[in-house]
Amino acid sequence: MKILLTGGAGFIGSHTAVALIENGFDPVIVDDFRNSEPFVIENIEKIVGKKITYYSLNIGNKEGVKNILQRENPVGVIHFAADKAVNESVLNPMKYYQNNVLNLINFLEVIDQMNINSFVFSSSCTVYGVPDKIPVNESALIKPAFSPYGYTKQVGERILTDFFKTKNKSSLTLLRYFNPIGAHPSGLIGELPIGVPSNLVPYITQAGIGKRKKLTVFGKDYDTKDGTCVRDYIHVVDLANAHVAALKKGLKRKDSIKTYNVGTGKGASVLDVIKAFEKVSQQGLNYEFGPRRAGDVPKIYSDNFLIKNELAWHPKFSLEDCLEHAWKWEKNLFNFKYKSEKKQD
Ligand code: UFG
Repeated sequence: MKILLTGGAGFIGSHTAVALIENGFDPVIVDDFRNSEPFVIENIEKIVGKKITYYSLNIGNKEGVKNILQRENPVGVIHFAADKAVNESVLNPMKYYQNNVLNLINFLEVIDQMNINSFVFSSSCTVYGVPDKIPVNESALIKPAFSPYGYTKQVGERILTDFFKTKNKSSLTLLRYFNPIGAHPSGLIGELPIGVPSNLVPYITQAGIGKRKKLTVFGKDYDTKDGTCVRDYIHVVDLANAHVAALKKGLKRKDSIKTYNVGTGKGASVLDVIKAFEKVSQQGLNYEFGPRRAGDVPKIYSDNFLIKNELAWHPKFSLEDCLEHAWKWEKNLFNFKYKSEKKQD
């Protein structure tokens, strides 16, 4: 069964392509490689031992997408294609509204004429803003978004919900990710931050290998167990498997819309993540405390009861596994050929 993966060469998309193949599906990747590299496709192929179908195209290109859909005839879609840097979205909001919203609408106009049985959308816990209650569950109030990026996820959920309400042969699953980290245990695919990473784990591994001088821990006076922010870090392979579970269930369901948190249900502080890195890498990390980062939520982690109960999905990897695999990936990166040098600055 063919499944279209928009943004399938990205961090979560590439791991989902592998998970789909392991579950007997046939992924078709559409990606414009704006945040990825062609070597990712080669490395997926190395992991799964077969060729992958992929198209280098922006999903806003209606004619191009239509041709691919007619040719491949997928039964399902997993939609990852989007920009995802919170800071960048504040500085360049139109890029986010263009790519994450307008291109989504263009894409839906094309699939409107197709028979897509199961559609899975890549959403984020950012839709909750500062939650009133932790762990946060799916019925928590959606608060005004902090950033244009967060707003595009809220709007994306709404657009898709309205669109799929009019379809009686398709199902929609909205997956709200907590903090995806780690890499494939093979060390062949992982996260490719552009320039200086803004996320914690790629910054840690880059500091560990010497690409960065030291990590700044943003804030040490939060009302948390050790004063640093708490997040729910989820291994990217566990997250990829959640997509497969959602897709499969969606193929059986018709005419329904479901929303699931994807997280471990456990909170870890910034210092917990540093400790896990130091343990698996067997080296100390150079870090210092700095001021709080604007917009950071002090503490958030998921209530993951719903996805465990309804999709029989369970996270398998620990925080240490996450750091071990991210570190393996970081050490492997110099082996891969980049299309441009800009990723490596
Ligand atoms: N942090 C540091 N130093 C760094 C980078 C991060 O101390 O150099 C801290 C942050 O202050 C935060 C924690 O590490 O406390 C996690 O930060 P990340 O940037 O890795 O992740 P965020 O929780 O800020 O963001 C993630 C996703 C977003 C999503 C958001 C929703 O990256 O896409 O969760 O809350 F929108």
